[in-house]
Amino acid sequence: SDDPLVLFMPSGKRGRFPKGTTILDAARQLGVYVESVCGGRATCGRCQIEVQEGQFAKHKITSSRDHISKVGPREARYAEKRAMPAGRRLSCSATVEGDLVIDVPQDAVINAQVVRKDADTRIIERRPAMHLCYVEVEEPDMHRPLGDLDRLKAALQKDWGFGRMEVDAHLLAQVQGILRAGQWAVTAAVHQDAEDDIARLVALWPGLKNEAYGLACDIGSTTIAMHLVSLLSGRVVASAGASNPQIRFGEDLMSRVSYVMMNPDGREAMTRAVRQEISKLVQKVADDGGIERHDILDAVFVANPIMHHLFLGIDPTELGGAPFALAVSGAVKLKADDLRLKLNPGARTYLLPCIAGHVGADASAVTLAEGPHRQDEMMLIVDVGTNAEIVLGNRARVVAASSPTGPAFEGAEISAGQRAAPGAIERVRIDRETLAPRYRVIGCDLWSDEPGFAEALGETGVTGICGSGIIEVIAEMYLSGIISEDGVVNGALAETNPRIIAEGRTFSYVLKESGPRLTVTQNDVRAIQLAKAALYAGIRLLMEKQAVATVDTIRFAGAFGSFIDPLYAMVLGLIPDCDPDRVSAVGNAAGTGARMALLNRDHRREIEETVKLIEKIETALEPKFQEHFVHAMALPNKIDAFPRLAE
Ligand code: FES
Repeated sequence: SDDPLVLFMPSGKRGRFPKGTTILDAARQLGVYVESVCGGRATCGRCQIEVQEGQFAKHKITSSRDHISKVGPREARYAEKRAMPAGRRLSCSATVEGDLVIDVPQDAVINAQVVRKDADTRIIERRPAMHLCYVEVEEPDMHRPLGDLDRLKAALQKDWGFGRMEVDAHLLAQVQGILRAGQWAVTAAVHQDAEDDIARLVALWPGLKNEAYGLACDIGSTTIAMHLVSLLSGRVVASAGASNPQIRFGEDLMSRVSYVMMNPDGREAMTRAVRQEISKLVQKVADDGGIERHDILDAVFVANPIMHHLFLGIDPTELGGAPFALAVSGAVKLKADDLRLKLNPGARTYLLPCIAGHVGADASAVTLAEGPHRQDEMMLIVDVGTNAEIVLGNRARVVAASSPTGPAFEGAEISAGQRAAPGAIERVRIDRETLAPRYRVIGCDLWSDEPGFAEALGETGVTGICGSGIIEVIAEMYLSGIISEDGVVNGALAETNPRIIAEGRTFSYVLKESGPRLTVTQNDVRAIQLAKAALYAGIRLLMEKQAVATVDTIRFAGAFGSFIDPLYAMVLGLIPDCDPDRVSAVGNAAGTGARMALLNRDHRREIEETVKLIEKIETALEPKFQEHFVHAMALPNKIDAFPRLAE
């Protein structure tokens, strides 16, 4: 037809529309999500777009500001009242008059806790389950005795196209007052988790309510991280983190399960503790964001299976042993109130599905964020904590497992080990001749042999060595011949080099001589060998299931992966051979996945469907696991080749 062509960016969706069609209508018809609270009345300002000018040869389209209608009275009125950025237009008022390329500005979602710059900055297309809808309701009429609530529902159905609607009980007694306070104009929050779900009216405000928030929360066994996100712009408004208070009941997951088994009120105490901490974090992000808890309408949680159960108040004992039965594996949808979370009384929560008894909603969130199921390449995702969660796959098939790496990678079980914090050694190089080390410490920009190091280090000094430091020092020890392929510290060196010292019947490497002395002992090397062998054996098992000899890309999720150097990880044989340029750290991918589920209900369906198809491999039950494990004890591996290392 001769109708003008309209192309929306960044989605690339396009279509032809008769002149006079509003840009908002055009977007709707193409399934491009443009926010709107006021329903096109030019009052909420949420529907802003920009015209891109120029020739777009690839799309055979020339776009110009002359191809969009002039600013009309309604739009001018809005622009007068509120500042609009230059070039922005209200899509509900501006109409198509010629070929157009329209930019739908999406605030880039920036995670305050990003470790690598590009890791967590991503644009999430918005289609939230929780919607703000402004409506004008008919006033009561003696001759048509339809109730206030019924007229409100009718208005919502008419203006916003909802089908069947239900109303939260707590609103029943409030509807009268709110409608009158708003003089029959109100904003409703409507929750609809899927297109064909019943729409639920969950909150109501007089007049125009122009902002609503959600939470994305990752409940880890050591830390809890929370983001406050605008449901309308997708922007992260505030972020906060805290230690998981359950640590006082047990350092690792298994000791928390034992605590529940040994103490009659153990489960309850841990549930209370984690919920209280989450509640404190909610207050913190609300204060930091300058908003009220009441403005929070939706919350998405991700967690490993044991944290997931304890948060929900479910006894995790079954997860402590085979067959590792989850009480619930599918996505969990509850009112925030059911979890004693003080948000808006109508707020909803969503927990992502768990993949298996060891592979939780946090792994689903990482999968959602990285999307192996959306592409053709064979992608390996590794999330190292006390257990390593491993996902391997592509569009055709995804498999997942968890490997019992233990806490060595986090610095536990290592004599000089500590968590990554200022004062911890994170980078190590060893001179191949003298065996003298140089190192770098978190919080200090200089190497230990650079002038000014001691001053730059300040009072903290060197306190220990963190996970990435351990990986590097052991890899460097191997490359310098201090340890053999079997991981044995060569005692013969002690005769000629003061860096190698006897400690009991084994030998250690002196990384730092004094104040205090830090050594890498034979036991430390063993602990890392065991951890890396468990990780690698799990990966190999999954590669076998996929019948592949190599992987195309490797993504390290979580804090550990953000700091380790892929080359050193390969020297030790933690990960299979892969082009180092295709190994990347993706930071808090679980948090990103949680935000995706918060901002777009289609992502909820996506991960629910994907998790159903993921094949779970139970490493404990696979005879081959033991075999791979034994081979992986060697550095880098007894039988598997690492051709890229030679390069
Ligand atoms: Fe509210 Fe356009 S939809 S201003």
